[in-house]
Amino acid sequence: MMSPVARLLVAALLALATASCEQGKAAGPDNFMGDARRGADLVKQYRCGGCHDIPGIAGAEGNVGPPLHRIGARTYIAGYIQNSPDNMADWIEDPQRALPGNAMPRMGIPQKDARDIAAFLYTLK
Ligand code: HEC
Repeated sequence: MMSPVARLLVAALLALATASCEQGKAAGPDNFMGDARRGADLVKQYRCGGCHDIPGIAGAEGNVGPPLHRIGARTYIAGYIQNSPDNMADWIEDPQRALPGNAMPRMGIPQKDARDIAAFLYTLK
């Protein structure tokens, strides 16, 4: 049997671990987290495939923008922006803020969705 003090200690440690985990989610590029499977569903939902050819997404054969083959290993986004998880999420959230005047429209995608979509795009290597 655990003593009440030990039990308290375990509870405190667990709370601490959870708290630091949640902090990590909000922080910089090293702590980038997104749900790639949800991201794939969102790519269908937002119809990115109307403008892009996207591997693994049925019917995504658009040719308005560049194909997204191996976008996860690309050096630059849209030829200008260093390809990092944060920059990719920012691009998806608002491409007009990221690179004003480019041809990809702002689609009103919330940050959380943008991060999941970015996680999916990074599976394309
Ligand atoms: C109306 C057409 C259109 C839609 C819809 C669209 N895009 Fe784009 N996208 C573009 C165009 C055009 C570019 C090229 C911009 C540039 O290079 O200046 C682009 C560029 C990109 C790039 C950078 C590609 C590269 O080769 O550097 C990514 C990544 C991207 N789009 C992802 C998405 C995702 C994800 C969605 C859906 C949430 C989406 N796009 C929806 C038109 C579109």
